[in-house]
Amino acid sequence: MPTTTPVTVPGPSHDVPRPAARSGPGLKDSFRAELIDIFELRMRRNLFSPGNPTLLRAFGGARRILAVCDRPEQGRRLATYLDHWRDRGALDHHRTVDGRTLTGLSGADPIRAVVRAAVTDRLGRRDAFLSIAGTESTATTALAAAMYRRYAHAVRVHDDLPALLASLHWDARTVAGDPAIAAAGRDPFVVVDVDRLLGDSGPVRPDEEWALRHLASFDDVLADQLDRGPDRLRPSVLRRAALGAVTRLLRRYGPGDHRVWQPPPTTAPEPEPVRTPASIPAPMRVSFPAPARASILTSVRAYQIREVSYQVTFASGVLDPDNPALSAYLPAGARVLAVVDDYSAEVTGATRRTLAARSRRGRLGGFTVLPVRSSPRGKTLDAAEELLRTAQRMRLGPDDRILAVGGGTVLDLVGYVAACHPGGTPYLRIPTTLVGLVDAGVGLKVGVDLDGRKNLLGAYHAPMACLCDPGFLATLPDAEFRCGLAEIVKIALVRDARLYTLVEEHHHALRTPDGAPVLDEVLRRAVAAMLVELEENPWERRLRRLADFGHEFGHVLEERSDYRLRHGEAVAIGMALSCRLGVSAGRLPLAVAERAETLLRRIGLPTYDDCCAADELWRALRTHVLPHKGGELHLAVPIGIGLGGFVDSIDEIGAADLHRAWAALRALATGTPPAPAGPEADSGSRSGSDSDSESDSRSGSAEWAVPAWTWDRGSP
Ligand SMILES: NC(=O)c1ccc[n+]([C@@H]2O[C@H](COP(=O)([O-])OP(=O)(O)OC[C@H]3O[C@@H](n4cnc5c(N)ncnc54)[C@H](O)[C@@H]3O)[C@@H](O)[C@H]2O)c1
Repeated sequence: MPTTTPVTVPGPSHDVPRPAARSGPGLKDSFRAELIDIFELRMRRNLFSPGNPTLLRAFGGARRILAVCDRPEQGRRLATYLDHWRDRGALDHHRTVDGRTLTGLSGADPIRAVVRAAVTDRLGRRDAFLSIAGTESTATTALAAAMYRRYAHAVRVHDDLPALLASLHWDARTVAGDPAIAAAGRDPFVVVDVDRLLGDSGPVRPDEEWALRHLASFDDVLADQLDRGPDRLRPSVLRRAALGAVTRLLRRYGPGDHRVWQPPPTTAPEPEPVRTPASIPAPMRVSFPAPARASILTSVRAYQIREVSYQVTFASGVLDPDNPALSAYLPAGARVLAVVDDYSAEVTGATRRTLAARSRRGRLGGFTVLPVRSSPRGKTLDAAEELLRTAQRMRLGPDDRILAVGGGTVLDLVGYVAACHPGGTPYLRIPTTLVGLVDAGVGLKVGVDLDGRKNLLGAYHAPMACLCDPGFLATLPDAEFRCGLAEIVKIALVRDARLYTLVEEHHHALRTPDGAPVLDEVLRRAVAAMLVELEENPWERRLRRLADFGHEFGHVLEERSDYRLRHGEAVAIGMALSCRLGVSAGRLPLAVAERAETLLRRIGLPTYDDCCAADELWRALRTHVLPHKGGELHLAVPIGIGLGGFVDSIDEIGAADLHRAWAALRALATGTPPAPAGPEADSGSRSGSDSDSESDSRSGSAEWAVPAWTWDRGSP
């Protein structure tokens, strides 16, 4: 469960792993880590003067910028500023879209529009979003950034007081909307365009007056200034006084989800109250360089530590009405929204019965069971919106629970809904597939697909617990079981040699009665290896992840096969291909790659599929995988059995290597001799040509363009 402690912590941003917790037969079965978030505010003059580095620094090294701006004049100033830095090589690309085009859209459509623009512009995970806009467009942009590829950096520039107040939060949320959507934005960065804010010569608007009076109710200095007669003060003096109050209040309370930073009431209909309103917090100490007297050109840095921990518990009969494993996570009076993979009427019925029995005993405040049909294409933002509406109709809050029962598809979808629900309702996972048990149920990652792109939107959102009941596996089709074995082979190859040997020796017997003890050890070892891997880099601040082994190509193959390939099958092919490329790059001996391929084939998993030609895979590596890995390849490969490593740079492999590897896997799968390598294979540079990097068929399509005016600057 996440808990938050605001404190002042000197030093750099980093996640703090904790020692592994152990139990049972000595295998790790819990996750614990701390996330340090940094909040930054800068009030600056001459923000868009060419050469002023404030904004460039705020981007934190991003090379591609997608900006959302509400006013054409501001957009033009920004474009000139960004052109300056692009021409000097500090940026690769930028584009500004008109925030006003988002206002007519409803539900999650504004977020979809911003994300589609980011995909068109090929923003990667280390690139940045920027908003210079009012409250709603700022929130939309921050939400899109927080979800894009599970997290991208967002900078919010403000030149008006009410939107600034709404921005002084750790998280981002739509103010109104059906459904209302929230996301934990990491490391919020707020910049105040002081010239514009103070240069406004117009009279104080009603929403500004509201903001002034609101700030004055917490800040005596501002209250005194207003008491001296607001009518006698010029608007610019009042606005300056308000910035002073913001500075003092930030110093006292820090940023956060509390009344001090409430946005002015909108004329739009109020959303359903889904969250207990937070009161004023205890004063928070923030790092605050002392500004020159009376200066408002200040900077604020605040830190908060979020501790995240959860248990992965093995329990049989987890849906039995008397099973204490589930009761432990359902507090008295809680209302429960249970989303159940409707693969079996028995499981849906058991979920209903267990919740009904607890309700009858007065343990629960109520429950709703929602059966959902799981399909590889069903993990979408549309589906998430529907579930969010249900959660909001139920007005679920922090004392209620969301329960996900199903395979990886349902676990990912429901976890994403829990992450986006502004009510902050904790969720529990009960995996029913082998992939769910050893992988999707164990980690922090949740997400949904958009426009057929796997997991384009997501979050790191830990469950309260994952309750693993191997009993569900009895009905799992063999093909799905094999997919789970693919994920087990993945983690075994890069983390646990003993696990690998167990699977190698016993994979054929794991579903037999005699194989039950080995299956038990395999499951526990796979979960433990995954937890160790996750705890070392929980929020993927580092994009070198052994758990990605097989997934770099796996996701591409899954999409290109139009989801004919199951996730685990695509990962198996991805592993075989990565191993071959690892051999080319000198990371592992061919014998290890062949041993892994043999095991995958014996299990009944594919190591090749003709949904994709080698040149398509090469292109996808550049247009798909590189942006996702922050511009570096970091291809996870085993360097021996049970030991993982990386091919970090795409320059270490070439199109010819990929052609050869793919041809060899094809030959083994089809029994035909390898065809000669394709044209790119002979065409030169190891990293191939850049010219085809834009030719991803989805990029730049008309339906993804953001309407109305845009400034499209920068080389593609
Ligand atoms: N978040 C993560 O870290 C992570 C890790 C791995 C996979 N995933 C995601 O998980 C998804 C794949 O999950 P999956 O492989 O579990 O498949 P799945 O959830 O799509 O389920 C496969 C099929 O099995 C059915 N099913 C579920 N439980 C069953 C049971 N006990 N008996 C019979 N049928 C059952 C489902 O209804 C479905 O038809 C992908 O979307 C993938 O991206 C996420």
